Amino acid sequence: MSDATVFPVPENLAEKAWVDESRYLQMYQQSVEDPEAFWAKHGKRIHWFKPFTKVKDINFGPEDVHIRWYEDGTTNVCYNCIDRHLPTKKDDTAIIWEGDDPSEHEYITYGQLYDHVCRFANALKARGVKKGDRVTIYMPMIPEATYAMLACARIGAVHSIVFGGFSPDALAGRIQGCQSNCVITADEGLRGGKSIPLKANADKALESCPGVDTVFVVKRTGGNISWNDKRDVWWHEACEAADNSCPAEEMNAEDPLFILYTSGSTGQPKGVLHTTGGYLVYASMTHKYVFDYHDGDIYWCTADVGWITGHSYIVYGPLTNGATTLVFEGVPNYPSASRFWEVCDKHKVNIFYTAPTAIRALMREGLAAVKKTSRSSLRLLGSVGEPINPEAWMWYHEVVGEGRCPIVDTWWQTETGGILITPLPGATPLKPGSATRPFFGVKPLLVDNDGNTLEGATEGNLCLSDSWPGQMRSVYGDHERFIQTYFSTYKGLYFTGDGCRRDEDGYYWITGRVDDVINVSGHRMGTAEVESALVAHPKVAEAAVVGYPHDIKGQGIYTYVTLNLGEEPSDELRKELVTWVRKEIGPIATPDLLQWAPGLPKTRSGKIMRRILRKIAENDYGSLGDTSTLADPSVVDDLIENRMNR
Ligand code: WT7
Repeated sequence: MSDATVFPVPENLAEKAWVDESRYLQMYQQSVEDPEAFWAKHGKRIHWFKPFTKVKDINFGPEDVHIRWYEDGTTNVCYNCIDRHLPTKKDDTAIIWEGDDPSEHEYITYGQLYDHVCRFANALKARGVKKGDRVTIYMPMIPEATYAMLACARIGAVHSIVFGGFSPDALAGRIQGCQSNCVITADEGLRGGKSIPLKANADKALESCPGVDTVFVVKRTGGNISWNDKRDVWWHEACEAADNSCPAEEMNAEDPLFILYTSGSTGQPKGVLHTTGGYLVYASMTHKYVFDYHDGDIYWCTADVGWITGHSYIVYGPLTNGATTLVFEGVPNYPSASRFWEVCDKHKVNIFYTAPTAIRALMREGLAAVKKTSRSSLRLLGSVGEPINPEAWMWYHEVVGEGRCPIVDTWWQTETGGILITPLPGATPLKPGSATRPFFGVKPLLVDNDGNTLEGATEGNLCLSDSWPGQMRSVYGDHERFIQTYFSTYKGLYFTGDGCRRDEDGYYWITGRVDDVINVSGHRMGTAEVESALVAHPKVAEAAVVGYPHDIKGQGIYTYVTLNLGEEPSDELRKELVTWVRKEIGPIATPDLLQWAPGLPKTRSGKIMRRILRKIAENDYGSLGDTSTLADPSVVDDLIENRMNR
């Protein structure tokens, strides 16, 4: 291989893994030469009530984009995650729940999971929730969050999970967006020893959501909450009263399974729509091969179910495979920076999947916090959410995994439903910082800005030229926006929004977003969203938001704010604006740096020149490039002089 630092597949691993290198190459070849045959075969990995006869029907546009997989088959996601395992795994652990407080944990067997999910499915039905209805889930990482998802899937309701860190306003927008009339929440969440007022937030959100007639509330902390007798229902009371068996609704492969809102480069967050059959085939298949999952493994993905990673790789993929999946309520550094590794030891975790931002934060805490734990159960490590810098990769590999565990750096998106570019542990020599090679059936394509295909070792915009079963099907309620966003930039291709380099060995290196989306601690943030939150403040005239390199978060949020005439900048106002954004969107959108901008650099036609703002935020103002098209070049000097990131 070309690069100096290559980590070959450990020999003992290649023998035991599902696929070694030659098998990968052979299967990949088959998957792209005859996708119909390949996906017909692998479609059978899930249980179908009525088997499919059609495999794929894909049109990537430019007009009439449609994506259909296994379209005449019928199945049920919950049935695949639970019922199917009962004959052999009734008493096996499906979920290990580890509380925020290290003294709390719980084991839930597949038999118990069936009971919990059926009861709650009946409780939903008793409140009138039926197939096709949208249910919003706003919950902490407690077992009930997974029961809620599975119960929706069981009765054919479409869930929309809103991350517990989002504000009441953000929650309200998402409830209205998909017209949910049922919300599931908890009295309070618990993270890092602090409580999060979920029910109070939901109450606030619901002031502008008159359509919601039911709120199920899990009693997590017993904290004080207000109560609306007509609308609010205690989870435990509803489940006690409900029957413990509930038939799994027969769903068409293309019936919606869930909606998940995600940020884009423009406007309001989009409701990414995933459907039933193809999604489940892809989530479960990637879980098996990427994590080389074998029966009996203890698997832990540290994500939150509020993100796609939680959907596909805490719940649906692992449970379809009959795995033991760990659900963690807490945070990496509570009560101490050893927590992740202590949990690995406590539950004998074999496969561990987390985000680079967590790795970097823990790396900063020093060796001792890791070394005091054994981690001897770990066999495989995974990374997701943003590019992992080689230093963090090396630390993860050498310190956490003691050089023994391959790292799968998995590239994918909310839109892709599952992992698309990734090493397979038994098959792929690793290069730190590279997501390596495509998964089966995935056809990456690099194009220049004019859409010309680039061959060989090169760098360009990352597209996909054919579908895979886990691909999103539409933007909920706005198919035109789906076509516009993903299929109009490069004709006939799905455009990811990412830049990417391909090296001489055909390895892919994701270089980050090429659109106005930034990636903060692995969470996607539309700069436009933060800007519109800022300009909603009565004192703000204009705002521009860009990302800048941040040691822990990957990217930080850099904001330029122009105040209304007559308003004076002050440290107080700066704090007020930061708090304002947190309230409007949520803590994940907190601006890291806020610079007062008497003016923003604009072209003569009034377009903000973000390229220049990015350079200044990166403290790289020496290479601003051509500024001759600016309407007023003097604003740039002021911005440089008062830059915040020195
Ligand atoms: C964006 C998708 C996929 C679940 C978590 C984030 C970036 C994701 C990697 C990786 C480099 C990555 C991309 C992508 N990204 N994984 N392994 N290497 N970049 O999901 O919020 O939909 O964000 O995250 O930029 O487009 P998301």
